[in-house]
Amino acid sequence: MQGAADALVLIEDGALVVDGDGRIVYCGEFEKLPEDHDSWNVVDHRPGFLFPGFIDTHIHFPQTYAGDSYGGGQLLEWLNACIFPSESLFADPEFAREAAVAFCDRRVAAGTTQAMVFGSAFPHAQDALFEETRRRGLRVVSGRGVQTAGPDSAAALITSEDDAVRLVSEEIEKWHAADTGDVATAMLHVAVVPRFSLAVTTETLKNLGELYDSVRDRGVYFHSHLNENDRPGTGEVATTKEMYQVGSYLDTYDGKFLPGSAVGGKSFLGRRSILAHAVHCQDVELARMAETGTSIAHCPTSQQFLGSGTMPWKRTVASGVNVAIGSDFGGGDQFLLTQVLADAFKVHISEAGDDGISMHPAEMLFTGTLAGARALDMEDRIGNFDDGKEADFVVVDPRAWPPLQGVVEKGVRSEDPALARDQTLFALLMAMREPAISEVYVQGRRIDVS
Ligand code: GUN
Ligand code: ZN
Repeated sequence: MQGAADALVLIEDGALVVDGDGRIVYCGEFEKLPEDHDSWNVVDHRPGFLFPGFIDTHIHFPQTYAGDSYGGGQLLEWLNACIFPSESLFADPEFAREAAVAFCDRRVAAGTTQAMVFGSAFPHAQDALFEETRRRGLRVVSGRGVQTAGPDSAAALITSEDDAVRLVSEEIEKWHAADTGDVATAMLHVAVVPRFSLAVTTETLKNLGELYDSVRDRGVYFHSHLNENDRPGTGEVATTKEMYQVGSYLDTYDGKFLPGSAVGGKSFLGRRSILAHAVHCQDVELARMAETGTSIAHCPTSQQFLGSGTMPWKRTVASGVNVAIGSDFGGGDQFLLTQVLADAFKVHISEAGDDGISMHPAEMLFTGTLAGARALDMEDRIGNFDDGKEADFVVVDPRAWPPLQGVVEKGVRSEDPALARDQTLFALLMAMREPAISEVYVQGRRIDVS
């Protein structure tokens, strides 16, 4: 991703000009602003830094209160002991409504201006999420997490096959582009979200595949988990391949979910499909994701928490798949995507031998912003400060977080201006914490924590 480093721009005394429709009409040096700016409403953010809003491509709404849950094991044990019981609490509409407020508050505090949100099984909870998101002026892509199979601890989350399709269909009709009526301008979008192949059946995959195929042209999304945990004996990858008798986990989302990877229905893959984790992929799976334009939500914080391993960075990126960042909260314990990117830096520099890489700070920033916009097929709308894009940005004020102020103002910098710039960006990304995110804007409108 040398491209990210080449494309990086730092403007010391910059200006971002937003028109009445919330679109960027100028991003450049303050000095070079058109002369008529005296009449404009000018907000002076100095000594703050403006970043494009962060884009989280994988986060769980019904796990708002489930971060840092201890289950005494890895993924499947943790789901059973902690997550299914936590998500079942969303059956209470008042609990779900309060969680929607808390979830949006944490997003705003972290500067996450857009997110692919893995939803609750309960339609009233999804209503609360979409309503609160709209009320706050945020963006979201979300869909109810579908489960038609699973252990007793997930009983409250499981529906019949018929209800699974009906409820997803109703969610699409109710919320997809509900705010503007036009998918190209909407802030609210719906996704079809089977929890993972182990939580559904071949019948569910067939029925949801048909539904997805019928709404693809309306810009509906697809989201799920892939190749996350392969612990010998109880791992999710081996269990999935055994249960479906398929050659690859990805086949189950690619319409080839019958024994021997025989075709049993429609594929979910495409430009509006995001698969979380992809830690243990075969080359054929990466190639198929690249071919179909399916993106990966890379979730290193969660992968460490659940002992899921390290997604091989170089090999995955080299395959041509778009890799964006995901907090995977509550599998991860951080809403703040710069902290998730800091984890990415740490795990990938620690990969063995030639696989290890010192990520360039521009690559980290790209992964947390424009790659997310690309994963959501919204690169024409958000992700950076190109003219004509919608003005989603965060203001980072080092004075609000002294450890950040210290590294920004007093850290040693190279004599080489390009390296000095990279060092400043790296320090900002690594040392930023929520208090330093002093303002958050979506479509040019300031969003506040409630
Ligand atoms: N796989 C299926 N459900 C989940 C979940 O809630 N979190 C994570 N990290 N992986 C999953
Ligand atoms: Zn997840």
